[in-house]
Amino acid sequence: MAGVTDRPFRQLCKRLGAGLVVSEMLSSNPRVWDTEKSKQRMDHEGEEGVRSVQIAGSDPELMAQAAQFNVANGAQIVDINMGCPAKKVNKKLAGSALLQDPPLVEKIIQAVVKAVNVPVTLKIRTGWNVENRNGLLIAQIAQDNGIQSLAVHGRTKACMYKGNAEYDTIKAIKQAVSIPVVANGDITSAQKAKHVLEYTGADALMIGRGAQGHPWIFREILHYLQTGQVLAAPSIDEVSSVLLEHVANVHQFYGGIKGCRIARKHVGWYLAEHDQQKLFRIKFNAIEDAGQQLDELTMYFDKLAGEPVLSFVTELVSPAA
Ligand SMILES: Cc1cc2nc3c(=O)[nH]c(=O)nc-3n(C[C@H](O)[C@H](O)[C@H](O)COP(=O)(O)O)c2cc1C
Repeated sequence: MAGVTDRPFRQLCKRLGAGLVVSEMLSSNPRVWDTEKSKQRMDHEGEEGVRSVQIAGSDPELMAQAAQFNVANGAQIVDINMGCPAKKVNKKLAGSALLQDPPLVEKIIQAVVKAVNVPVTLKIRTGWNVENRNGLLIAQIAQDNGIQSLAVHGRTKACMYKGNAEYDTIKAIKQAVSIPVVANGDITSAQKAKHVLEYTGADALMIGRGAQGHPWIFREILHYLQTGQVLAAPSIDEVSSVLLEHVANVHQFYGGIKGCRIARKHVGWYLAEHDQQKLFRIKFNAIEDAGQQLDELTMYFDKLAGEPVLSFVTELVSPAA
């Protein structure tokens, strides 16, 4: 997820049970590869496990070059983005807008698969609008042209993030193709994960927003799938230590000034349920100094230690989303 799954967050999710994490998308336009933002997105130093890098664009040749560039930079899987509905991406006919042009989808896939000797995976939506749910056709094109795994977000491009994700199209795609299908959309709890897995018959699940502020979701899902038991919520000590470490890693990765800005949204997600009146977050968001951010968070949790732990943890780990 652009702006979210940076290296510190990917490492944290991996540690807490994610089987595979994917980089923020990188543009296939070589003119932007040299920017600080792109360089940070390409940074995989110290990352454990398989490195999957997502690329976005619409020109088959540029996409092929971007794939080669990223493999040379350490990508072990190249993921093609045909799922992003953002205007900035779509006005160049990339992301999910490509679903309107199946012949171009085929050309992009063929060019990228031919260009690299690592697995190429694809991320799509169910179609470009509810009248045109052509995910099945795209899945077939993907399979026929060498895509090794297909992630499907259960919304159309036109849906953006509105309404609920639907899983019937994902189920139909899973039944129609033999490559692994990954179900995605609105999975925010272990119980929902089990339901989506069983309903769609998918081979794996992809979690996006459900991990924001709650990276424990991965181990919770694993535990529930393996035992049928709901794992106990993380203790307040664990929430505090994971959040403080996450924020410190963000500071280190981006440097103090940018790191402080990026840390704010993560802290906002972690504390959304607990700090409902935003009293702490308003104060926290005004802090420009990395050390002070950590000090304020430490004080916040120290103060909480005096409060009934159960109510805090329950609120913190039961996101309404
Ligand atoms: C802030 C944000 C950034 C995203 N960036 C990307 C992206 O770069 N590539 C991509 O394939 N999907 C991206 N997505 C879509 C998610 O990967 C996912 O498909 C979608 O949020 C639905 O899953 P969820 O309900 O688990 O979040 C993004 C979503 C959000 C909210």
